[in-house]
Formats: sequence, structure tokens, C-alpha cells
Amino acid sequence: MLTVAVLISGAGSNLKALLDAAAEEDYPARIVVVGADREADGFAHAQAYGIPTFLVPWSEFDSREAWGAELATQLAVWRPDLIVLSGLMRLLPAEVVDAWSPRIINTHPAYLPEFPGAHGVRDALAAGATQTGASIIVVDNGVDSGPILAQERVPIRSDDDEHTLHERIKPVERRLLVDVVRRIATGELDLSAP
Ligand code: GRF
Repeated sequence: MLTVAVLISGAGSNLKALLDAAAEEDYPARIVVVGADREADGFAHAQAYGIPTFLVPWSEFDSREAWGAELATQLAVWRPDLIVLSGLMRLLPAEVVDAWSPRIINTHPAYLPEFPGAHGVRDALAAGATQTGASIIVVDNGVDSGPILAQERVPIRSDDDEHTLHERIKPVERRLLVDVVRRIATGELDLSAP
């Protein structure tokens, strides 16, 4: 059974999809802990499943490195096989990435390498693109630049705004994430050679 730590910042809809999947008897992964950089609404999903949570508040640390060191300490307690960044809106310091990569993956609401960064949905609209997508990647020390594990196109409608487009991308992201974690757990997907 693959053990997974999930890190979030927000609503945690991707987290909920993973929790729902992991509750199925035949799903080969279990969520062991959920962490966040702020009091995230998504903690409620973890609590509903009785999954432990931890908070490492970004605002209480002087540097990314100090915050990352505490995050690493918390993660080490749970010794997960895999870390999923599921809407964590912080770049991890190199010390944390180097300690875990390639066993650390991220979801992104665009068809990478198109539109990396914190505003992937907004940037696709601003560019006048007619399609964007969702991607699941291995985290490296760049910004959304790691190896792509899965991705799928999502068309952009002429009347889309950032909210409507993101709401159409997120179900695709969730489906891809649940499938990628399953394939990592079964060994179908080898993170050291994706
Ligand atoms: C996702 O689209 C994620 O890729 C992006 O923020 C969103 C998080 O959604 N970085 P949620 O917290 O899983 O609902």
C-alpha cells in the first residue's frame, strides 16, 4: 500500500478526490496526513475522513528555507512514500525538493509547459488561447518544469472567465491525479523514469 502525504493551501477539491478514491477498498494508496501552509478550508475533508493534519504557517517563518525545514520535519514523522502538492501555493525550497524528488508530484491547471506558475488559468485566457488543460508533474527545482506524468486538454470557450475555466479544468485535474497516484502505487508508473 502506497502511503501519501498531501499538501494544500485552499479548498482541497483535489485532496477530496484522492480521499474518496483511497476510501475504496481496491485503491492501492492511503492518505496518511494532510499538511498546509495556512488554515486551509481543505482540512475539513481530511477531518471528515479522520486523517491527521498539520499546519506550518508560512507567515510565522523568516525565510522559505526555515519554513521548508519545519515542513520537512513534519513530513518525516509520517514517512510517506509519496508527497502530493495539491494546490499548495508555495514553492518548496531546494532542500525539501532534493530530499524527496522524484517522490513528490504536483497538479497544475494548464497543459505544461504552457502557462506555468501561480496563474496558469488566468495566463491562458490572457494569451487568447483556445485550449488549455491540466497536468500532473514530478516536482523539480524549477517552476512547474518537472517531468510530465499525465496531461489532458481542456477547450477554452469564448465566454469563459478565470472562474468558469478553472471549474472546468479542476475535474480533469482530479481525475488525472487519482489515476496517476494509482499507477504509481501499482508500479505501472515509475517515477525515477517517467
Ligand atoms: C488546482 O487547480 C491546483 O492545480 C491549483 O489550485 C487549485 C487547487 O484546488 N494550483 P483545490 O484546493 O484542490 O480545490
